[in-house]
Amino acid sequence: MICGADRLVRIVSEVLDFQKLEAGRMQFDMGKGDINKIVQVLHNLINNAIKFTERGEVTVATTRDEGNIHVMVRDTGTGIRQEDMTKLFYAFERIDERRNNRIDGTGLGLVICKEIIEKHNGKIWAESEFGKGSTFHFVLPSETR
Ligand SMILES: Nc1ncnc2c1ncn2[C@@H]1O[C@H](COP(=O)(O)OP(=O)(O)O)[C@@H](O)[C@H]1O
Ligand SMILES: [Mg+2]
Repeated sequence: MICGADRLVRIVSEVLDFQKLEAGRMQFDMGKGDINKIVQVLHNLINNAIKFTERGEVTVATTRDEGNIHVMVRDTGTGIRQEDMTKLFYAFERIDERRNNRIDGTGLGLVICKEIIEKHNGKIWAESEFGKGSTFHFVLPSETR
């Protein structure tokens, strides 16, 4: 269980990031220096995976091919229904509100992730089987100009 202050800091910073993003004022460092934002993406994906997995495991894997880095965050958690998959990367969408009310979050994390990855010419997507688990993927070009 994370303490209340940590939770509040995370929620406020997601809202602030989202506002910056909406206003086109999120700052990107388009070289190798933008590691903090990529870490932020990983943080949200791993955090989600842990949040939505009551028992089982969370795996992070990475491969490199043809100038791309592919990162996978896989969990054996609740999974996501097929009809909800399209909502994932939209602001304030939190699937299954009733269950989600017990799990903290803003519904902004994945929108912020998508923005960061796409700004770096990458792609982010998810695969899931309801009741079995989910895998979130992102691919980034390993050489940025
Ligand atoms: N690994 C996952 N397993 C199941 N559902 C997930 C997972 N990751 C995200 N989701 C669903 O997508 C929603 C949006 O995720 P996100 O934008 O990070 O918001 P938050 O974590 O603040 O709820 C979550 O509320 C949840 O319903
Ligand atoms: Mg999240």
